[in-house]
Formats: sequence, structure tokens, C-alpha cells
Amino acid sequence: MYKVGLLGLGTVGTGTAEILLNPAGRNPLIRDLDLHRVGVKTIGKAREIQLPTEILTTDLEGIVTDPDVDIVVELIGGTDRARSLILKAIESGKHIVTANKAVIARHGAEIFSAAQAAGVYVLIEAAVGGGIPIIQPLKQSLGANRIQKITGIINGTTNYILTQMQDVGADFADVLAEAQRLGYAEADPTADVDGFDAADKISILASLAFNGRIRYEDIEREGIRTVSVADINYAQQLGFTIKLLAIAQQDHHTHDQLQLRVGPTLVPKDHPLASVNGVFNAILVEADPLGQVMFYGPGAGKGATASAVVSDLLNITALLQGEKLEDALHPMLACPHEDYCQVAPITELETRFYARFRCGDRPGVIGHLGTCFGDQGVSIESVVQIGYQGDHAEVVVVTHEVTEGQFRQAVEAIHAYEAIDDIQVASILRVL
Ligand code: HSE
Repeated sequence: MYKVGLLGLGTVGTGTAEILLNPAGRNPLIRDLDLHRVGVKTIGKAREIQLPTEILTTDLEGIVTDPDVDIVVELIGGTDRARSLILKAIESGKHIVTANKAVIARHGAEIFSAAQAAGVYVLIEAAVGGGIPIIQPLKQSLGANRIQKITGIINGTTNYILTQMQDVGADFADVLAEAQRLGYAEADPTADVDGFDAADKISILASLAFNGRIRYEDIEREGIRTVSVADINYAQQLGFTIKLLAIAQQDHHTHDQLQLRVGPTLVPKDHPLASVNGVFNAILVEADPLGQVMFYGPGAGKGATASAVVSDLLNITALLQGEKLEDALHPMLACPHEDYCQVAPITELETRFYARFRCGDRPGVIGHLGTCFGDQGVSIESVVQIGYQGDHAEVVVVTHEVTEGQFRQAVEAIHAYEAIDDIQVASILRVL
């Protein structure tokens, strides 16, 4: 068992604890993680999650120096206290998992130097893009590539505000107030709407993609306060949508310099990032020789961010296990399964169907099709007679969700229907 000291039991801390305490069906390594101590501000407060009171403590320094703790998960946010707790934990030989992009973007040099010296890992999958895997892909899966450009929608609050301004036609201030009321924007929205959060995140991505440290002040940063509905409307008429983009790219001319910027940007409507709306995030990576690859998903929230936190915990667990079991395969790389999964027969699949029939164009044909489907309990969503192929009419049916077994029986019944012998099934496709 590896002991986890969790700092912070807010939204993401709660999500992380829920995963650790309910390992069934997840990666088996989660069972090797013990939620040993949890640092909170107030012990007696009513919480969404019930934890044994003896593991709760207000002494966060005590957690990061606890000799029993193997991994510290920092989820308190902010910079100064987080920085000092992380450094103290590193000094005490703990591995670190953090979702805190601000502390990494601004104090990463100091933190990673200390971690290198202490021989511990600082893993940050949850710091960028919430639940979207982007840090590990940049470190591992894309390692064969030269990264040319990263373009991200990496702040959900501003993406929500810009999407609402476009959809509803309301001004920035009104949408921000509504977003604050709904809990999509913080009471103090500066970090998000002025682009600081996106700048933190792009500095982290750029550092991994371009193999070097980034000085936070080198990022050109502009937020979305100046974007007006008029701009959004004109942009739309010109075939663009406005997004807060964070971009890191190699200078086309010099190649040894980076361009780093965050700012509201017109995006052509057919660009892959143009349809990333609301609180969703996406990161488009352009790489040689891979080409373009886009990572898309929920950029914040309890479950999504906790998913990324726990993925880092699993990586560290696997490494610690690997050190102990020298001759065993690395648990995160091997496929050790031996049992087979139970796969359901296709007839039990529940889906909608599209079916095209070729049939005589005369009274009763659609009625008979309807009867055959109805007799098998297959409900029809739409029927259209669109065109002709030679002498035959073409009738297209889309069903409601049914089992594939029911649908196949209905098609059998249509084949066997004596009253009408000129119905042919031209094609059958499943509808998502
Ligand atoms: N405040 C961030 C956002 C979420 O709006 O995307 C946490 O990174």
C-alpha cells in the first residue's frame, strides 16, 4: 500500500477521495492507494463525502512531513502556501500530484529543480485541461514528434462566456453576471476573464512541447473583457467565431524562438476548434510527422479533474511498485489480463436503425411496413418516400431505439410478408 496525503477537500479533493474509496471496476492499482490523511481548513464542517474524522487534520504541514506519507496530492490552489507545502513535501521525499497550474506556471522552475534534486516526481496532468489527457501525451505518446504548434481553448469560463455572448447576443458584463450566478465563473473572475489562467496553462504545455522552461512574463496575454457582441456578430458574418486561444508555436523564421500568446482570436468556422463550445476545452497539437491531433473534453469539474489527479497517482504507484518488483513488467505498460470479458450478443444491442426499402409504388406498402415493424414492437421515428430507382419507389424508415433482435425479426417479417412480395431491403444501417 502507498499512503496518500491529500491537501484540500474542495470539489476536486472530494472527487479524488471518492475514486480512491470506490476502486471497483477501475485500474486495479487503485487498491494499492490508501487515503491516509486529508488536510482541511475546518474539521467539523458538513461535507458531501463522509471520511473517518481521524484521517482529517488542519495541520497541512504535518501531512507533508509525515514519514508514513508516500505521495502528497496538493489541491488547495493559490500560489504561496501551495508552493511552500509542495517544496516542504519534496524536501521530505514525497512525490507530488497537483492540479495547481498557477503554482507550476509561476514557481515550476524552483519546484522541478527541487524535485530533481530529491529524486521525486511532480505530476501535473490535472493542471491543464481538467480531465483531458494532455500532459502524459506530450511527455510520452507524442515523443517521436517535433511539436510545431499548440493551440488551445483551455479556459472553460471564458469559452462559456463567449459561447453565450454568441448564442444569446448578450453583452460580456451580463453574461459574466449570469455565469457567476450559475457557478460557472468565480466571484473574482480576473484569473479567467483576463487570461491569466490560460497563460498559466499554455506555459506548462509549451514547456513540455518545446523542452524548456518558460518565463511566465514572456507570454503575451489579453483577456476577453474587450470583446463586444458587435465583434462577435461581424465575425460571424465573415465566417468566424471568436475564441480565447492560447497559442505556443515555433517562430516560422527563426525556428529557435517561440511565440507565446493568449488572446481573443477569430477562428474560421470550419476549424476544428470552432465547434468547441460552452465550458469544454480542447487542445490542438500540430506535430511532425504526426500532423494534427486534437484533445477535447471537460476542462474542469469534480469528476473530470479528479480523473486526471488519480491518473497521476496511478503512474507514481506503478513506478514505486516497479522499483520493488524488479523482474515484473511495468503495470501501466503491460496488459496482464487473462480472463475474457463477457460480450453481449448483438441481438441485445439497443440502437436506432435506418432502413431503405425498394418497393412498388402503390397503396398500402408503407402501411404494411408499419404493421411488420409494429407487430415486433419496433416504433418508427420517421418514414419518407424520397425517390425512385427504375420502377420502384424508395422508402426510408428510421426507427426509435429497439433491440437489434426485434429489428431483425421485423425485417424477417417484411421478407416473409405474403400480401406484398415486391419489398426489397436495399440497405440497413445503425443510427448513433
Ligand atoms: N477556471 C478554469 C476554467 C478551470 O475556467 O477553465 C480550472 O482550470
